[in-house]
Amino acid sequence: MTDELLRWRAEFPIVESCTYLISHSLGAMPRGAYDSLREYADVWAARGVRAWAEGWWEMPLTVGDEVAKIIGAPAGTIVMHQNVSVCQSLILSCFEPEGRRNKIVYSDLEFPSVMYAYEAHARDGRFRIERVPSDDGMTVPLDKFLAAIDEETLLVPVSHVLFKSAFLQDARAITERAHEVGALVVLDTYQSAGTVPFSVTDLDVDFCTGGSVKWLCGGPGAGYLYVHPRLHEKLEPKVTGWMAHESPFAFELPPISYAKGIARFLHGSPNVPGLYAARERSPSSKPPP
Ligand SMILES: Cc1ncc(COP(=O)(O)O)c(C=O)c1O
Repeated sequence: MTDELLRWRAEFPIVESCTYLISHSLGAMPRGAYDSLREYADVWAARGVRAWAEGWWEMPLTVGDEVAKIIGAPAGTIVMHQNVSVCQSLILSCFEPEGRRNKIVYSDLEFPSVMYAYEAHARDGRFRIERVPSDDGMTVPLDKFLAAIDEETLLVPVSHVLFKSAFLQDARAITERAHEVGALVVLDTYQSAGTVPFSVTDLDVDFCTGGSVKWLCGGPGAGYLYVHPRLHEKLEPKVTGWMAHESPFAFELPPISYAKGIARFLHGSPNVPGLYAARERSPSSKPPP
């Protein structure tokens, strides 16, 4: 019982009273979350509206920079939203299919909410879905998945680790195939961030989504959206809001003039308490002595 990691147990009150084996659903609450949430309430009470200018406004980006260190992304490439479902809809809203390149390829083991978002958008016929079936309900046959990605493919949403079975998908092979035919990859790292070493930069994926609820132990309400820098200036999300405007406080009439860089993927007012809770376990946190 000398493992360095054991020092972290005291950081998670619930492990004192039970064996906690469900971090794939809701990660154990870190002790420090009390302080974070109290700080949120104290700032709101004491600073009032000034809180926006003193950090709240920037939080979807500053917390995003903390997540960036965990998933191997550069600073300035992640915005925080409420959850993955919102992030996936926002990604899809960046695209207006042209010609035959309107196919979205995913397996039937993707998280349902992700599939619901794509299927709903495909209803008006602008997008086609090709759903690759799993043979055993646990794994996705890589050869069949790669074969489904062709020159008509626009997007490939794929879970790095499948939520149902913990099966680790070959994100590199999938990304290479997608890029070979001009398609873009949306990697869902909800179940892999914090459990599997990887880097979105190294994998060269185009988008990445995930959230704070599970292995990152940040509680509900903070989903991350990574967009590769090569795409920032090319995309104009239709799922948008005033924070994505280049001068939000000018309160200009539409059409929106998008902010430069990752800020154009913001939306409306962020979930500030969720961001306070999520930022608690930053990689710079030291284990208790
Ligand atoms: C792989 C994966 N994606 C997404 C989600 C959840 O998405 P959301 O943040 O929209 O609730 C889960 C939750 O179990 C998941 O396992």
